[in-house]
Amino acid sequence: MTIATTRATRDFVSRAVAAIPPSGIRRFFDVAATMQGVISLGVGEPDFVTPAHVIDAAKASLDRGKTGYTSNRGLIELRERIAHETATRYGATYDPGSEVIVTTGVSEAFDLAVRATIDPGDEVIVPEPSYVCYPPCVGLTGGVVVPIRTDASDGFVVTAKQVAAAITPRTKAIVLGYPNNPTGGAVSRDELAKIVAVAVEHDLLIISDEIYSRLTYDGWEHTTVSSLPGAHERTILLNGFSKAYAMTGWRLGYACAPSHLIEAMMKVHQYGMLSAPTMAQYAAIEALENGEADVQRMVAEYARRRTLIVDRLSQMGLECLRPQGAFYVFPSIRRSGLTSDEFAERLLHEEHVAAIPGSVFGHGGEGHVRMCYATKYEQIDEALDRLGRFLGRVCP
Ligand SMILES: Cc1ncc(COP(=O)(O)O)c(C=O)c1O
Repeated sequence: MTIATTRATRDFVSRAVAAIPPSGIRRFFDVAATMQGVISLGVGEPDFVTPAHVIDAAKASLDRGKTGYTSNRGLIELRERIAHETATRYGATYDPGSEVIVTTGVSEAFDLAVRATIDPGDEVIVPEPSYVCYPPCVGLTGGVVVPIRTDASDGFVVTAKQVAAAITPRTKAIVLGYPNNPTGGAVSRDELAKIVAVAVEHDLLIISDEIYSRLTYDGWEHTTVSSLPGAHERTILLNGFSKAYAMTGWRLGYACAPSHLIEAMMKVHQYGMLSAPTMAQYAAIEALENGEADVQRMVAEYARRRTLIVDRLSQMGLECLRPQGAFYVFPSIRRSGLTSDEFAERLLHEEHVAAIPGSVFGHGGEGHVRMCYATKYEQIDEALDRLGRFLGRVCP
């Protein structure tokens, strides 16, 4: 039998997806991956391996035959640990039975949050530079991103005044992502309280991505938005295990919110995902129960690298904020006279150092590059030598 083949004349891709620009980060890494001897300050991922006792807990769960789905919402033991953590560490109280959902990373949690709450035409305020997934995920719901530009001069943090000025009758939600990817900036408790007050006044939802909450420096105390007066009933708190516990590949995160919002997110999650990976959930219980020393060890090492990178960038004349959190620096490259795209492209090809052009992170990103210091100290040192050489040629 022969099967007749005809060439499709349509590409079948939806208009919504066709409208999403290709990821600036991915394009860059496709090139870097084909080159030899590249030092990557690019990918935002810990260079540490997941702590051994966490891996052992996952293995033990497999040995006990825990290989099936879990409840859609996630293992109740894990949700209890998560609720305990948010209450004791951050002062935000949630009922593990109805106000917590375990997700496949904060990536899924963010997608669920916007899909469960945003209708076509709703405006969503996003301070930028920001993590690259926010605008496309909002766009897929038919929502409209209203960016707020933040700058180095204000520490790359949004103010309540800026949020108030961006509000229109169509505004539905504000996305906050602090400590911030790509800048490392963090918002003070006082300013957050003012932002919450604006949200209360205009009856807005806050989606707060706090995935870097454990990675803070110089005694910076992270404030969980939903712990602030008036915030709980209008906030979806997102957090996860990827960064603090070096568990990016396990794909595990969670959302905490009032039960009707978790219920709405559940509707999307149960059909789109069913449940988060089971062995990862057992690993996460172990991470929360016994992983504190590991977090502190990794944060101490990030802090050492942060000092190295900030000091050396400043010595090279690249202005750079000393970030309060996450594991990124976002130096200005303006003195090179190059765009951030040209800078990153040439640095990669001429010196084999991968950094991300600031332009991919939205408004306020041009004129900067993002460098991730979740890379070995010696490698960062070598990358900075190469960067110094590069600058010597570009702007002697
Ligand atoms: C701000 C921010 N949110 C979410 C994520 C994705 O996290 P997860 O691995 O939990 O999906 C990242 C990863 O880089 C991030 O930087």
